[in-house]
Amino acid sequence: MDNRGTFGSRFTATMAMAGSAIGLGNIWRFPYIAGKYGGGAFIIVYLLSAVFICVPIFLSESIIGKSTRLGTFGAMRTLAPGSRWKWLGLITVITPLIILSYYSVVGGWSVEYLFKAVAQAFGTGAAGAAAESVAGAAGAAERAEFASFISSTWKPIIAHSIFLLANALVVLGGVKKGIEKFTKITTPVLFVLIVVIMFYAISLPGAQAGINYLVDADFSKLTAEGVLSAMGQAFFSLSLGVGTILTYASYMRKEDNILATGCFTAGFDLIFAMIAGFAIMPAVFAAGIEPGAGPGLIFETLPYIFTVMGEQSPVLSGCVSILFFLTILFAALTSSISMLEVGVSYLVDEKNWSRGKAILIVCTGCWLLGILCSLSFGPLSGVNIMGNSIFDFCDKLASNFLMVLGSLLFVLFAGWKMKKSILADEIAPDGSSSVKIALFKILYFLIRYVAPLAIIVIFITNLLM
Ligand code: PFF
Repeated sequence: MDNRGTFGSRFTATMAMAGSAIGLGNIWRFPYIAGKYGGGAFIIVYLLSAVFICVPIFLSESIIGKSTRLGTFGAMRTLAPGSRWKWLGLITVITPLIILSYYSVVGGWSVEYLFKAVAQAFGTGAAGAAAESVAGAAGAAERAEFASFISSTWKPIIAHSIFLLANALVVLGGVKKGIEKFTKITTPVLFVLIVVIMFYAISLPGAQAGINYLVDADFSKLTAEGVLSAMGQAFFSLSLGVGTILTYASYMRKEDNILATGCFTAGFDLIFAMIAGFAIMPAVFAAGIEPGAGPGLIFETLPYIFTVMGEQSPVLSGCVSILFFLTILFAALTSSISMLEVGVSYLVDEKNWSRGKAILIVCTGCWLLGILCSLSFGPLSGVNIMGNSIFDFCDKLASNFLMVLGSLLFVLFAGWKMKKSILADEIAPDGSSSVKIALFKILYFLIRYVAPLAIIVIFITNLLM
């Protein structure tokens, strides 16, 4: 098994995991829902769920991977031989590939918008010009242009293919020369880029309103729906329950401290989301636009802001927009390669396939499903699965259902099936201080009782909603 590869240090393993966690979710969802559900109040709930639910899931998942040095399926087969738990291994091979299929479509949009930023061509297409002359409303041209782009047939498919190809190239390099080399550079660079954009955004006149939107704690806005959104966002943002953390942890060195890696990843992910909020919302408020979430925020609102900025200072607007879409692209890539690696490691470990063959097969499957997701904004918009478009169905199936189910099964496995000594060896090995032993007891209690109960509540609510 030693040809699987190993991350060279704790730092690089942490950068890979943080890269998986930091993604589109931090940029287009967190700032908006944080503001919508009470700013600081939402952030408190998010923090509590990160500490009491997500860190225990993270530890469960990563210790299963690290202790067996195998991917999801192999780890379950080894720790619970002959049992049905291996099916958990299989679910978690499939979920990240469903996510990768539609995530790659959005990754493709960021490729297209990076090109547009370089060409300084926001809102200038035929659709944009027509909308501007008729509607004249703020951002109408950018909205029309985005709608026309995603509903067309070929352009988004080509962009999705380029994005997936970039993933394949990184993962083809293997753990050390591919994933590690890529994420140890891009994750810190991502952080620097978003900090630079934040400083620019908070210097804009009228930016204060955007900052207040994010940090002012308004508990009256924190509804039950807000609490659930905070928990759901923490799950998605930390890439939990889909085997990516398990797989990356299986490449860690024995001596590397998993608790420190988990806490750092969770902390870094939240800090990044906050900074993304400070980079985006001040600009949105400075331009006098209503904030929103999802693709609209990144591909309509911000291009409009760049167009307005460009009228005053084209060079500055050009530079900021290129940096911004580069950040989006890197954030998406560091997440998507972690999804691809789960499927690839399964085929390499379990079926003894070469990396190249595994990547070819997994990418072809994701490419085809991604094409259907992409076409669901245009020619296939009439196809409806339980009231959703193909894209939305894949998103809801994976993030509201499979990720939560996977997380639940991981904590149940770690808390009730796996030997307690395996967890103890990683968190408080023999000879640890009394503080570490007490910490382990708390974490074990969270893994066995608190996290499963909280996840069951989220799961049932998602099913009912
Ligand atoms: N954490 C990523 C984000 O916030 O965009 C999304 C993600 C990555 C989900 C990896 C699932 C996954 F396996």
